[in-house]
Amino acid sequence: VGDGGPAVRRLAEWDATDLLALAEEYDTPLYVIDRDRVAENCARLREAFPDADISYAVKAHTGQAVLRTVREAGLDAECASAGEVERAFEAGFTGNRIRYTAVNPPGRDLDRVVGRWQANPELTITVGAADTVDRLRDRGFDGRLCVRANPGVGAGHHEKVRTGANAKFGIPIERVADLAEAWAAEFDLVGVHAHAGSGISGDDLTAHRELVSRMGDLAREVESRGGGLEFVDVGGGFGVPYRSEEPPLDLDAVAAATREALGDVAGRSPAGCQAELGNVDATLSIEPGRYVVADAGVLLTRVNTVKEARDATVVGVDAGMTTLLRPAMYGAYHAIRNLSAGVDSDTDGEPNATGDRETVPVTVAGPICESADVLCEERPLSRPERGEVLAVGNAGAYGYEMSNTYNTRPRPAEVARSGTTVRLVRRRETAADLTELER
Ligand code: LLP
Repeated sequence: VGDGGPAVRRLAEWDATDLLALAEEYDTPLYVIDRDRVAENCARLREAFPDADISYAVKAHTGQAVLRTVREAGLDAECASAGEVERAFEAGFTGNRIRYTAVNPPGRDLDRVVGRWQANPELTITVGAADTVDRLRDRGFDGRLCVRANPGVGAGHHEKVRTGANAKFGIPIERVADLAEAWAAEFDLVGVHAHAGSGISGDDLTAHRELVSRMGDLAREVESRGGGLEFVDVGGGFGVPYRSEEPPLDLDAVAAATREALGDVAGRSPAGCQAELGNVDATLSIEPGRYVVADAGVLLTRVNTVKEARDATVVGVDAGMTTLLRPAMYGAYHAIRNLSAGVDSDTDGEPNATGDRETVPVTVAGPICESADVLCEERPLSRPERGEVLAVGNAGAYGYEMSNTYNTRPRPAEVARSGTTVRLVRRRETAADLTELER
């Protein structure tokens, strides 16, 4: 895997000539994923958390190219649905490297996952509701069980992605020990789990520490009642910078805070990632998604319309809220760079300070008939012209995954690169694909 490399890859660091050639060859909109960068991100996580179990939260990007890279880099897979579990198996993860986190699971999902478990008894199922346990029991499951607590501490880049105190997720932490004690008689109780939310920055470290500390208390309580826990999973959520002025997350600081919170719990000095939780001999688990893939992906989109509106230059492109939902859904900021114009490399791709183009406030809008369909509003950008290609940064996480076909827009293609090799890893959806299901 090599060393971890720099903590963040800014949009300006992607080679414009290469990306323009890809847009030419594969057409737009196009997702590009850099497998080498995925491997570097995994390596950096491993360096910061040398003794922890690290699972990749598959939901951030489920493509086989990413899953295989992550598996080769030694991370396990955390899956949110039966479909993700099946993709993880397809990518070569063995059952002992797959955790399924059930969130209000449809019966169909439980059928499929329990079916997989029958052939792969090392697979772990995480439950966030007592009746999920009943439903698993009804299906004959008596294997490795992890209990998801709702820790009462949330964090993250947007209200919509804070899970830690949201009633939908997990079992209130104060009830977990009793349930775990009862379930330990019937199942192989291997872990406790909690997740604060997504996009945690350095400012959220206090919340993270509090969550870890509560989980440490829980683990000790479970253990004192005969537990036998293998791991304490404190979730994912490690943020990446989206704006040029944002610093990268200091992973070492997160790791230190995590150890310290565990150490405090046990009333001992910090002692590595092998969780020193009093008498609990459990391993710390983390499950980042975004951190692994966000800066390994860009979205390429071509300009089709340029018009002067009252307050801004509106640049119409062929990607929109169906291609990359995050700006419409969370007001998320993604750096945008005009690949066809010169770019000042220390400004993360915008505004253009060195090119010969005028820098103007630009609204980049997609082809969807909704006013939410904008990738950015009134952002200084070197004035794009029709036919030019823009690159959207940090598109590797929750990009293709949240794409959809609203307005009968086929989903984009995706290419994966590693070294000088480029492969089409998801073909472009066609109009025929979209109508195929209709009867
Ligand atoms: N573990 C659990 C239980 C989760 O629910 C999630 C994310 C993760 C791990 C990974 O979180 P990450 O490390 O990627 O932040 N669509 C949103 C993000 C939703 C995340 C949902 N759960 C976005 O685009 O910002």
